[in-house]
Amino acid sequence: MRFSLAYQDASLNDEIAALKEDTDCLSALKLLISPESFAGLKGWMGKASFSAPVMDEIHSISDRIRSDGDLFVLVGVGGSNQAAQAAIDALGDGFRHNVRYAGNGLSPRALSRLLEELDGRNEIYVNVIAKNFATLEPGSHFRVLRSYLEKRYGKADAGRRIIATGTIGSSLERISRENGYTFLAFPEDIGGRYSAHSAVGLLPMAVAGIDVDRLVEGVSDQMDEEVRHGIDSAAASYAIARRLLYEKGFCIEQLVSEEPSLRLFGRWWRQMYGESGGKDGLGIYPATSIYTEDLHSIGQLVQEGARNLFETFLSMPDDSSLIIPASSYADGFEYIEGKDLAEMNRIAIDATIGAHSSAGVPCIRLDADGCDAYSWGRVFYFFEFSCALSCLLFGVNPFDQNGVEEYKRRMFKALGQNGV
Ligand code: PA5
Repeated sequence: MRFSLAYQDASLNDEIAALKEDTDCLSALKLLISPESFAGLKGWMGKASFSAPVMDEIHSISDRIRSDGDLFVLVGVGGSNQAAQAAIDALGDGFRHNVRYAGNGLSPRALSRLLEELDGRNEIYVNVIAKNFATLEPGSHFRVLRSYLEKRYGKADAGRRIIATGTIGSSLERISRENGYTFLAFPEDIGGRYSAHSAVGLLPMAVAGIDVDRLVEGVSDQMDEEVRHGIDSAAASYAIARRLLYEKGFCIEQLVSEEPSLRLFGRWWRQMYGESGGKDGLGIYPATSIYTEDLHSIGQLVQEGARNLFETFLSMPDDSSLIIPASSYADGFEYIEGKDLAEMNRIAIDATIGAHSSAGVPCIRLDADGCDAYSWGRVFYFFEFSCALSCLLFGVNPFDQNGVEEYKRRMFKALGQNGV
């Protein structure tokens, strides 16, 4: 990943360079990479979550689903399915059209529509992902879906169609053993939003035809790169720039891509940075946009609204190309005849960065090498690492999310859950 800045205030580059020498910054990085700190929460920084036995199991389960199934329902919420959704939408093969999501909300309409769709399909598989199996959204939806499968196929055949991803020793593991579900381990030392390159993210990605071996190679190379480059890495520059911009009053970050297939990647990023960084009265609000489409909705505000927003332009280029044809009649668009839409998209982004930065909006550019599975692996780890470092630069814990408990406490009380 390459990091660069487009900003009127050229001193920001110097400030980033100066902070790289700063003791507080170096201590934050040391804290992140030291094995003693946050022990038990940094499994995502190691390679065990995609060891050969884990990958073999993922391949054998995903091959079975791809050859026998015609609908795959992924049940999970938050970190338990955002990474898979993002990668599947951008990279999945034709099987991605057979993937559905459930348990990411409590909408009866959405679940009823899904059940209607299941009636029209023959071979259904369900992957329920829940670290502790206490979250209401996946818990309630899994109950409905397994009762549907049991009614339709009988208990034993239903069990064959269910893959449960949970922590060893959890009630989900017990239920799986008792009912003949396939059980996959959700690594205890990895939190939901850091789980892209564990069985949590990799199984659904493999089902959708993503080359998960290449993806984890990308993760692994990015891990090595972070170790090699330390504070001089692009991830560190990005984390430091966020901190500096926040201090200057920029409390909203908009992640922008010019590629609509990265829309769900934006949701993954939003969860990663929002849930990790919004604590102790601090935090940058993570917003996302796809340009040029959203220039026609949010572009006005960015150009001329309050100066509290900065933009991060993520580019993951591929070799797509589409030439604008000649026209048999004049339509006013003669000037684009023979031009490549890919080039036009790039020109539009450059023009946008020029316009926004000249109006005082700090613009960061993050340029990945490509958009294949390998590059996605690198990009996932890049953002995880820079997010954790960014949190430490703010002095907040990147791995907890205690604030989410407050709504749950009230909801559980209203629902009459035991012990609340
Ligand atoms: O990132 C996180 O830790 C959270 O977003 C969780 O993934 C989410 O709350 C779902 O948790 P669970 O898998 O325990 O149902």
